[in-house]
Amino acid sequence: MRNRFIYICNHFLSFLMSTKILIIGACGQIGTELTAALQTRYGAANVIASDIRKSDDKVFSESPFEILDATDKLGIKTCVEKHQITDVYLMAALLSATAEKNPEFAWELNMNSLLHVLNLAKDKLIEKVFWPSSIAVFGKNSPKKQTPQHTIMDPSTVYGISKLSGERWCEYYYENYGVDVRSIRYPGIISWKAQPGGGTTDYAVEIFHEAIKNDSYTCFLKENTMLPMMFMDDAVRATIDIMNAESTEVKVRSSYNIAATSFTPKELTVEIQELLPNFTINYEPDFRQAIADSWPESIDDTTAANDWNWSATFDIKAIVSEMITNLKSTLV
Ligand code: SER
Repeated sequence: MRNRFIYICNHFLSFLMSTKILIIGACGQIGTELTAALQTRYGAANVIASDIRKSDDKVFSESPFEILDATDKLGIKTCVEKHQITDVYLMAALLSATAEKNPEFAWELNMNSLLHVLNLAKDKLIEKVFWPSSIAVFGKNSPKKQTPQHTIMDPSTVYGISKLSGERWCEYYYENYGVDVRSIRYPGIISWKAQPGGGTTDYAVEIFHEAIKNDSYTCFLKENTMLPMMFMDDAVRATIDIMNAESTEVKVRSSYNIAATSFTPKELTVEIQELLPNFTINYEPDFRQAIADSWPESIDDTTAANDWNWSATFDIKAIVSEMITNLKSTLV
């Protein structure tokens, strides 16, 4: 009853504000759940999902769907005009591991898609832009623990270089053209609905699938590799919260640090074994180890907490419990 009431209020509000959303790269790990959350908040008819190909997740049969290549400048403009889009969430990107295998394409996709969208906002075709950055913007000389909002940034991956450059472009378009662009630096995102693809933090999702299906997992990172992680529900809430914050509250226009928890593969294994005692892990580190070694272990997110009230809710125990409960009912 209460949810129904909130649903009706949100529909009414979005009707008054006439928010019309385009999600580019909607079929990815984050896009899939973000699409569902935005449909609930704004009404399915006000959310246009798009991707280079359509996934068969049922969330995409609820809203209009467009086949859209994020590097296609004219295609994006045509889609924005056709649906009278006000807000764009640009989720398309090549992640860290895949980007290392195809650096030029990663740069083209990650950078040009952002510039296309920022230019549409500069030309007043859209009002607001969400663009995700990543913990990959930090590098070997950034402080490893509680990495501050503003610090040394020397990314050594193509993905990190593209995200740091993107952050600079976002701030530039805000300062010089008044573009209302908002961004957060996602840590590794853990979810059970859609699989991640091509990231260094993907082990923390794969491990659950393998634990449930096979009772064992071979991890591509070493057992003591500590990385910042977050459950999907927190990541989606952060995304929607920053987009709905008052413009004056969003003081950082490059990208905000956000954090939830940090753990190593070994620590995650211990938590999984609490619920699945037969689970075993072994370690065969590959090229992704060097990427992980260049990233922070934990993140200081007090600026986001102070500016727009950010705080995470899922710790490692809550994440493990959600993952195992939900994957058990979907995989088995
Ligand atoms: N999850 C991403 C990756 O591993 C980091 O933002 O590439």
